[in-house]
Amino acid sequence: MKQTILITGGVGYIGSHACLEFLAAGFRLVVLDNLCNSSLESLRRVKELSGHNIPFVEADIRDRAALDRLFAEYAIDAVIHFAGLKAVGESVEKPLRYYDNNIAGSITLFEAMQAAGVKTVVFSSSATVYGDPASVPIREDFPVGATTNPYGRSKLIIEQVLGDLAASDPEWRIALLRYFNPVGAHKSGRIGEDPRGTPNNLMPYISQVAVGRREYLNVWGNDYPTPDGTGVRDYIHVVDLALGHVKAVEKLREGPGVRIWNLGTGRGYSVVEMARAFEQASGRPVPYKFGPRRAGDIAQCWADPSLAEHELGWKASRGLEEMCEDTWRWQSMNPNGFDS
Ligand code: NAD
Ligand code: UD1
Repeated sequence: MKQTILITGGVGYIGSHACLEFLAAGFRLVVLDNLCNSSLESLRRVKELSGHNIPFVEADIRDRAALDRLFAEYAIDAVIHFAGLKAVGESVEKPLRYYDNNIAGSITLFEAMQAAGVKTVVFSSSATVYGDPASVPIREDFPVGATTNPYGRSKLIIEQVLGDLAASDPEWRIALLRYFNPVGAHKSGRIGEDPRGTPNNLMPYISQVAVGRREYLNVWGNDYPTPDGTGVRDYIHVVDLALGHVKAVEKLREGPGVRIWNLGTGRGYSVVEMARAFEQASGRPVPYKFGPRRAGDIAQCWADPSLAEHELGWKASRGLEEMCEDTWRWQSMNPNGFDS
């Protein structure tokens, strides 16, 4: 029988791509979002691309009454919980906003789930919970906790809340997905990442340089102990990431407990390699200047994704060229994001 999935934050970047992959895999969806960092145009395009009508509830995950109404109206089997604030710098300036939105919001959601008897959840965690790892590649059993900012701590605390919940009630089925660096866009060029204001993350910044919205890329530090001195990360195509969620939900059908999987490619690229790859894919120059290190950054970070491969039968298959090409298609078709 078709399962019905609630996708919180389903209008956002990763959530919108996940909607398409869940629909393609035969799930029914309900999307909840408060639109604080997204545009309904994204959901409209997801509907258009998939040919499905997706029920949408405009609400905040902190709104218990709205959640109760939603669970009463729809027979939800599992929740994919993307809703959250994610800007690291802003979290340092406004920690209470982050703890309230991410932690209090998640707790309200889990309370509503428990009351409705919905005890399957896939949570968007982050490689940031590993802090500065002692070595790479990073395995799921590496120590967590040395997070450097409120955003990262909010992810870690929610992981711990879910762990305690599973310990208190053996019916819960929980997947903690630790994402590495999501990039790229859907092949159609119709949906993608549309950051508000100046992008903090590398890929949207590079693509705005390539499209002419920004003059040059600031490379934050070129004196790291990496091959070219610039930071190395594990960039993963957002469609591969979305597919990992489908696999995780299917795996949770097998039984209760808390499962943790890294979602990365297992390969790292430096900032300069990313700029060069983007130039190749777009045919546009990406000039850059070296600047000082960014506070809180680490030298290098990439996943050991073998547990997900082994247990979920999931492996990222889209390489760097495809990540850049797909980002570029989205950026050039929508130079001003969903507003264009
Ligand atoms: P996004 O901002 O594009 O999507 C998040 C969505 O959640 C938005 O549509 C926003 O409007 C919604 N939202 C936020 N707070 C809400 C609330 N209180 N109630 C209802 N809706 C709310 O971000 P994304 O990149 O798609 O990230 C999705 C999730 O993955 C987030 O939890 C994020 O922390 C996590 N994550 C993202 C990355 C990344 O690099 N993009 C990396 C690791 C983890
Ligand atoms: C950042 C967050 C992390 C979060 C992730 C996804 C920090 C310290 N970490 O990861 O918690 O989970 O985003 O949202 O913010 N870079 C430049 N110039 C730029 C932008 C980035 O040189 O304009 C470099 C960075 O120094 C880094 C790499 O590019 O070496 C990737 O940066 P970014 O995309 O921000 O991701 P992370 O820092 O890995």
